[in-house]
Amino acid sequence: MIIYNLYLLLKDFLYLIFLRFFYNLNFISKNNYYHKIVEFIKYKGVVFIKLSQIITSRKDLKKYIDPFFEKKLESLQDECFHNEISIISNFKYIKKQPIAAGSICNVFLINHYPFGQAVLKTTHKHILEKISNSIDQVLILNSLLTILNYTKILDILDINGLKIFLLNQIDMNLEARNQIKIKNIFKNIDFIKIPDIYKNKKDYIIMEECKGLKYKKFVEKYEEFEDECIALIYCSLYKMIQGKIIHGDFHHGNFLYQLENNRVNIIILDFGIICSLTDTQSYYLLESMNIKYNKKKRNIFFIKFVYELNYDIRVKLEKYNLNEKHDPDTIINIILKENIKIPSEFISFFTTFQTLIIKINKHIKTKNNHFMEYLLGYALDNDII
Ligand SMILES: Nc1ncnc2c1ncn2[C@@H]1O[C@H](COP(=O)(O)OP(=O)(O)O)[C@@H](O)[C@H]1O
Ligand SMILES: [Mg+2]
Repeated sequence: MIIYNLYLLLKDFLYLIFLRFFYNLNFISKNNYYHKIVEFIKYKGVVFIKLSQIITSRKDLKKYIDPFFEKKLESLQDECFHNEISIISNFKYIKKQPIAAGSICNVFLINHYPFGQAVLKTTHKHILEKISNSIDQVLILNSLLTILNYTKILDILDINGLKIFLLNQIDMNLEARNQIKIKNIFKNIDFIKIPDIYKNKKDYIIMEECKGLKYKKFVEKYEEFEDECIALIYCSLYKMIQGKIIHGDFHHGNFLYQLENNRVNIIILDFGIICSLTDTQSYYLLESMNIKYNKKKRNIFFIKFVYELNYDIRVKLEKYNLNEKHDPDTIINIILKENIKIPSEFISFFTTFQTLIIKINKHIKTKNNHFMEYLLGYALDNDII
């Protein structure tokens, strides 16, 4: 297997060298060159796609790549990979084309008796072998890149952590269990919805189809409900932290919004990764989001939360002498920059939390703090805090 992977890599390596050579000689345009690289990443499969997604979502890693290339790479965040379709024969597909397709799963609409139209989420065929092969190739590629002294990006990423992270996501039974746990947190809140599960096996989940729009489309259509959408993200996060289980991949691709009787519902999807919190972690994180406190006080609680993650983090961060001036955004950047090992399920939680906090802070600024009052009112009226 190693020999075969080595052969494949050598072939790829030659391809990349020739591509670069043609580009340097101006035989192909910059646009075409980077387009071919992105096509190459897609062809190399799941781990290469995930690595690209991580790189383009991390501020500290982005600086290593050409901004033009970064734009092209961003298309891998939500692009469909239709060449990966695997159809399970005993389902009644409404259409054999998936409604969404990521690097691990496809999502289809089917008819499922007695529920009617439902969503089927299936893992790609031979996903386990694909991940293992892809990881082996990344490791060999890493050694080759080290020889060429071009190792910065792969050095920072923990490839074995990534492998565990991916392997945890290919078990649909586990995902279904996660979905039920999180659904339980929201059982008394009717405006935060999690699809019901109808059936699950190791390689698929059949669940309720929840109709809704992604954030951008929803806000374009119902501009006046933007604040409510942001408040819903805040409330969902708050409730999960209170329940000590948080969605590990909490980004806009995994929410849908719907308008019902002039109020907004949020639908949360995709429970491949969840993180558990201890009582203390949950307490500090909730306090760091407490809108009744000023920013300084919230920052102090966030630092306390980060110190609670593990001993290594505490020791490495102590030299920074963190104080109330350090907001979650800067602290997360320090952690990423210092290459501090954090539990693998928290990696995406951090980037997610960072993105959400930045979004909420930006919203507060542009709305001259009116949003803060709105958020407090919304959370109190709905018994969230
Ligand atoms: N229960 C559902 N109801 C409606 N749409 C869904 C449902 N589940 C998934 N989808 C659609 O499929 C997309 C991908 O699903 P997701 O579970 O996030 O898969 P992935 O793990 O590939 O990201 C979602 O962004 C959403 O548009
Ligand atoms: Mg998703």
